[in-house]
Amino acid sequence: MAIKIALLGLGTVGSGVLKIIKNNQKKIKQTSGEEIVIKKALVRNPAKHQNLANEVELTTSFDEILHDSEIKIVVELMGGLHPAKEYITAALKAGKNVVTANKDLMATFGSELISLAANQQCDLMYDASVAGGIPILRTLSTSYASDIISEIQGIINGTTNYILSQMSEKGLSYEAALKMAQQLGFAEADPTNDVTGKDAAYKIVILSKFAFGTKIGINDFTIEGINNLQDFDIRQASRMGYVIKLIGIAKNIAGKLFVEVAPCLLPENAIMAHIKNELNALQIKSQSLGTAIFTGPGAGSSATANSVMSDVIAETSNFVKQINGRPFSNFSRIMKLTSSED
Ligand code: HSE
Repeated sequence: MAIKIALLGLGTVGSGVLKIIKNNQKKIKQTSGEEIVIKKALVRNPAKHQNLANEVELTTSFDEILHDSEIKIVVELMGGLHPAKEYITAALKAGKNVVTANKDLMATFGSELISLAANQQCDLMYDASVAGGIPILRTLSTSYASDIISEIQGIINGTTNYILSQMSEKGLSYEAALKMAQQLGFAEADPTNDVTGKDAAYKIVILSKFAFGTKIGINDFTIEGINNLQDFDIRQASRMGYVIKLIGIAKNIAGKLFVEVAPCLLPENAIMAHIKNELNALQIKSQSLGTAIFTGPGAGSSATANSVMSDVIAETSNFVKQINGRPFSNFSRIMKLTSSED
């Protein structure tokens, strides 16, 4: 019997999910034992998606999805806080499992939604919310189950990494590079969160929860994006043998958690300096494993859709499901430091 799912949103990631389900159904069936069928897709403007109308039933009514008892999994890919929060809440209350790629939502209302899912005995999975195609939340939940993490840091925004790479290597202007990142589907609908570091900040909030069990919000630490960087900064860094990368970090310093998102100078022979374009990379330091680096596409339609599909298939198979972070630890205070105060 086919597993019926619904998509909320048919933009960059939604259309990637549609494509994977259409093209890779044989593999999906082998892996999950079932066929996965998108029964309905919620869109604001069906006329905009007419080219997909013969592949999936389009609807403008969330209630139609909510009251469809055949739909077992709701996949939220609209982004933003509202109405995504209300839709996910309603879906969980209706006993449906939810998969989302929405980091803004999970960083802001994650605890509330996770408790609701637990009370409803439903799953809320969000591996695609951090680092696009890198299965980092699943890895933190499984491979680090017995390990003590002391630091997690890296490049966690594909758009800004793409812009910085294009500016330094191809001499593109900031505006031209941003436009290309938008055209390639890396940037958020409104790229402000990408370039101001807020998107990376949401991701470091979620990563801190998985790595340290610590509940923090984006107002608890310093966030600086790349929007104030000048071409000159990049050229000057290069002359001195450095590259500039937007780095998110969460680090245990003597029992206190230091968190920050900021552009950093990296020596050009550093591993992170070689992570280019939309690639993301995370370096994790831990007691047993030592230092490990995970890298892969951090944004884009098919990479992010792949992570979404891995959560969807986890619902239908015996895959290890992502664990919603460990119990909150007792980090008493979040250190507010910026590079300039160091
Ligand atoms: N806009 C995000 C980025 C998409 O550029 O990383 C993936 O979260």
